[in-house]
Amino acid sequence: MCGIVGYVGKRQVVPVLLDGLRRLEYRGYDSAGVAIAQNGTVKVSKKAGRLSELEEVVPYEEFSQATIGIGHTRWATHGKPTDDNAHPHQDCTGDFTVIHNGIIENYAELRRELKEKGHVFRSETDTEVIAHLFEELYEDNLEETMKKVIARLEGSYALVVVSVRDKNKLLAARQDSPLVIGLGKGENLLASDIPALLPYTRETIIMEDGQLAILTEDSVTIKDIKGNTIEPKIFHVHWDDVAAEKAGYEHFMLKEIHEQPKALKDTLAGRITEDNKVKFAEGFALTPEMVRDIEKVYLIACGTAYHAGLVGKHLIEKLVGIPAEADVASEFRYRDPLVTDKTLVVVVSQSGETADTLAALRESKARGARVVAVTNVVGSSVAREADDVIYTWAGPEIAVASTKAYTTQLLALSLFAIYLAQERGKEATYLLEEIKKLPEKASRVLETEARIKELAEVIAKHDDAFYIGRGLDFAVSLEGQLKLKEISYIHAEAYPAGELKHGTLALITEGTPVISLATQPSLYEKTVSNIQEVKARGAYVVGIVKEGDEKINEHADVVINIPEVNPLLSPIIAVLPLQLLSYYAAVARGEDVDKPRNLAKSVTVE
Ligand code: F6R
Repeated sequence: MCGIVGYVGKRQVVPVLLDGLRRLEYRGYDSAGVAIAQNGTVKVSKKAGRLSELEEVVPYEEFSQATIGIGHTRWATHGKPTDDNAHPHQDCTGDFTVIHNGIIENYAELRRELKEKGHVFRSETDTEVIAHLFEELYEDNLEETMKKVIARLEGSYALVVVSVRDKNKLLAARQDSPLVIGLGKGENLLASDIPALLPYTRETIIMEDGQLAILTEDSVTIKDIKGNTIEPKIFHVHWDDVAAEKAGYEHFMLKEIHEQPKALKDTLAGRITEDNKVKFAEGFALTPEMVRDIEKVYLIACGTAYHAGLVGKHLIEKLVGIPAEADVASEFRYRDPLVTDKTLVVVVSQSGETADTLAALRESKARGARVVAVTNVVGSSVAREADDVIYTWAGPEIAVASTKAYTTQLLALSLFAIYLAQERGKEATYLLEEIKKLPEKASRVLETEARIKELAEVIAKHDDAFYIGRGLDFAVSLEGQLKLKEISYIHAEAYPAGELKHGTLALITEGTPVISLATQPSLYEKTVSNIQEVKARGAYVVGIVKEGDEKINEHADVVINIPEVNPLLSPIIAVLPLQLLSYYAAVARGEDVDKPRNLAKSVTVE
């Protein structure tokens, strides 16, 4: 998500920080800032927009002697991309300056508490509470204060602080957000990602969760949360700059596939209360009365986001009992939709800028509907124009083919369906315990990568493939076939499993790959019958089923198991092997995975 750089040494610090931030630009960001320590003060310079805008306002002359500082590029989560919300953030006195990547889940409570004690806030961010906590808890030792601050934080953080109370030092802490230390000679660095370190050193320490780091120009000390010193492992980076941007993965798409456990965890952060209720905080104002008035829900989107909408439709109908329709935005906007002030419209868009989705949002509002947006980009057009926003905290998605945006959209829609059920007095909270386990289950599926790669090498030799499933498995099949065709250029189609014999079965011949999803217990027997139909015509059947399913072995040529998961949540897990399958099929065919032909990441024209 955000980019972090810190430096302590003998060089002029401003160019080091700006160069480091430039090297993290590929991650995407919406504002940037630096804090420079010099002559007993720490001064902040920050700006919304691109790095070039920050470069225009940084007072280079004033900081020409400075050799300690921190820099940050922000990907907004709490609060829009504005100058005030850009990092670094300071406490009331300016003595403590922080940058942070991650999400502080209990920031609202902390902010309330600190305000009551007289602290004055200048931004809407979760990060600013950290600066004020330092001010509140400081006695006479910065390191001890860091421990006390961390003890108050719930959520994820890569956190760096520079303070006039303990000059010539950078302090850092990590929990669930990456932080790497660069070991130089007479200088040391910190960054959220390796590329920022490479001009200065290839010797690094990858910080682990629960660790603190203290950096001076001559030393780096790593401690655990109790203050015990830890002997860190030194990792020598042999990647070139381009490989480092991808954290050593061959493509951004593969990196993003592997980021999904973390993206799911972040999207969940702070959204399940202690008394097992779903809550959406910032930007969400749908009241219980409004929820009770809803007579129909439309889920509107394009492409992969539309496939997420299809899953959302199932969940809302099943859990809430309200009729729900998923529709493609470019169709919806021109077909005089039956939308009234009793209709709730949910628009789903990773970028928040897709022209058709935005037009559908406007059309719905003009007809009196309330619009909820599910989006990944804070401050995007969709986020600004919708009445309520649920953010997917997937972080920037760079590969054109959507992966982590899709699974986090599914998670956000699952939470939203449970929220609607809860407000309408229906029992759906039983899903919440299962939801909490999804990141770990996603990690387990990703461990089967080597087997899926072998399978992909077989599929890559074909020019056509079919995906079949029933119910939610069909919705996932649609996403699977889109992923395969957009990056490998293999022609692929998805069908409701029961629909094949109404025409498409004619295309199944000896060896035709049929990827068959059968994760829904209530539809299992029916799906297996359809699998038998294609098998009888010579299909090469790949079964995607739950662990422990022995029966499928009789019918499938290859079986991919996913962990046991509630059927309503299974799309979030079942899609993962399909993403890997598409990725490795495209690699096997030598295609440009991250930038497939004819496609753009953000479709801002009709
Ligand atoms: C496919 C893909 C597209 C997008 C679609 C909508 O991998 O990424 O189908 O899902 O263009 O984009 P957003 O979600 O930005 O509105």
